[in-house]
Amino acid sequence: EPTTAVGKAANFAETRVGASKMVREFGRKIFPSHWSFMLGEVALYTFIILVLTGTFLTFWFKPAMGHAIYEGPYIPLQGVEMSEAYESTLAISFEIRGGLFIRQMHHWAALLFMVAVSVHALRIFFTGAYRRPREINWMVGIALIALGMGAGFTGYSLPDDLLSGNGLRIIDGLLKSIPLIGTYTSFFLFGGEFPGVDIVSRLYTLHIMIVPALIIAFIAIHLMFVVIHKHTQWPGAGHTNRNVVGEPVLPTFAAKGGGFFFMIFALLSFLSGIFTINAVWNYGPYDPSPVSAGTQPDWYIGWMDGYLRIVPGWLEFYIFGLPFSLNINTALLAALVLFGAMAIWPFFEAWLTKDYREHHILDRPRNNPTRTAVGVAAVVWYAVMWAAASGDLMAVFFHMSLNDMIYIFRIMFFLGPILGFIITKRVCLGLQRKDREIVLHGYESGEIIRLPHGEFQERHKPLDPHKLWKLMAYESPRFIPAEPGADGKISKGEKRRATIAKYFYEDRVAPVTKEELDAAHHDHHAVESGSHEAGS
Ligand code: HEM
Ligand code: HEM
Repeated sequence: EPTTAVGKAANFAETRVGASKMVREFGRKIFPSHWSFMLGEVALYTFIILVLTGTFLTFWFKPAMGHAIYEGPYIPLQGVEMSEAYESTLAISFEIRGGLFIRQMHHWAALLFMVAVSVHALRIFFTGAYRRPREINWMVGIALIALGMGAGFTGYSLPDDLLSGNGLRIIDGLLKSIPLIGTYTSFFLFGGEFPGVDIVSRLYTLHIMIVPALIIAFIAIHLMFVVIHKHTQWPGAGHTNRNVVGEPVLPTFAAKGGGFFFMIFALLSFLSGIFTINAVWNYGPYDPSPVSAGTQPDWYIGWMDGYLRIVPGWLEFYIFGLPFSLNINTALLAALVLFGAMAIWPFFEAWLTKDYREHHILDRPRNNPTRTAVGVAAVVWYAVMWAAASGDLMAVFFHMSLNDMIYIFRIMFFLGPILGFIITKRVCLGLQRKDREIVLHGYESGEIIRLPHGEFQERHKPLDPHKLWKLMAYESPRFIPAEPGADGKISKGEKRRATIAKYFYEDRVAPVTKEELDAAHHDHHAVESGSHEAGS
């Protein structure tokens, strides 16, 4: 029986929930160290900060659209008619102690959260960490991106200022463009004709309850999967598909992670203390008639806004007097294409390469040139839409016509991804060839030596074994030509697979083999001993 207070407490916990087993199990989990594995952590920590700051805001924010006349301390708006939601946002900003700071922290954390989630997803993609067995976790991640966008949109629509109201106007337009049921859908959501008096309280329920609950549930599943699957690792000496080389969660990783959390907290405090974000008092209350110039949504919604800005008007037409707004509808389509393609990619790649094996060792992006090129193409596509949301500001800045700007974005919408794909693939192949050179002949040292018989040679420095392993130990994405099935015939689907796979994977740089390495070493020795003879 323990005698100290700590001992008694530990014993209490142990005999009721078996805490030591949990701590032992989880504490011994090994987490590999690499900066790119910190991105998921940033997402996690910024989310925690969102929950903390958001909870603070709920104490003062009034999710209601009742009529109010401003009588607060901000002089330019005194006497202005507004909703209670906007009034309470102003109160949080000007009257509640620390309110502005926490509001800004909530907003900055939202922006950083989406950055972290996106870059984390790119790290997963470009390293092939989504491959079996992590495909489902990848899809959980895609759901998290969508939920994050939903959280952000419902959040910045709450203050009911001019900017957020114009954002909601776009949602109203998107809904109304749905053929036949559009108007009804919009009326249903807004509780009558836009903007109505219900939308803020409805968004509020979504924003502080449903969406966060879903995000928390998905993060829990997500992290559970990370524990079950164990973490992937970069190729390196001693790293295999069956081990994880790194640090135990307790104490090393937990200490690092905890410290890192506070660093992010500090960074966000700094940003929120110094830099204004979403200065709603400048925009004024929402009123459907004015739109301020140069408005933009938060960055993670920008790509959809940009799409709407460049889609051609002729996609809207009438059949029997009924309007069909394909221009608006296709915005939803673009989103579905992007998210759908991301969700099925792991399965598509496995089918294409007939690679259904488990992978726990990451690919260096250059070693899978096609995947990397596809990823860059998608990023370029996204970036073109995203930039198009600022087309008006760019036109002003560069003294260009807004129409020309729109045409440039329309062209880049199609051309950008293609160029991105081609250039990236060539760059990757080039980098792989450079790696091959280094493996076979060592680093260029820049030291020129003159041999006794007069010949000049550059000395090459050999690689250390770790680096050698890293550069040599990779699997080329496979290209498997069409194979006959069980009936001895090549099916149509198989033929199609082989055609696409050939286009994607035929052109590649194979890893250096042991024989090649031996042969290269032999050559070097031959040169050296040869020069000896010449010298003697
Ligand atoms: C791994 C958190 C969103 C896919 C991880 C890890 C954490 C994490 C802490 C382990 C460390 C790391 O590898 O970075 C989160 C949080 C998210 C989020 C809090 C958002 C709220 C996403 C998204 C995707 C994704 C959007 C993909 C579309 C994955 C995968 C792994 C992973 C496949 C396993 C990686 C490996 O073992 O190498 N996540 N993540 N996650 N995440 Fe996320
Ligand atoms: C407002 C994002 C989670 C409560 C906002 C705003 C954004 C946002 C961008 C507008 C802030 C502004 O006025 O400039 C997010 C994101 C979340 C999240 C991305 C999660 C991923 C939460 C949670 C709560 C919360 C969990 C509550 C528990 C609020 C409240 C407001 C708000 C009350 C209105 C206050 C105001 O705008 O001043 N949110 N939020 N949020 N959020 Fe969140």
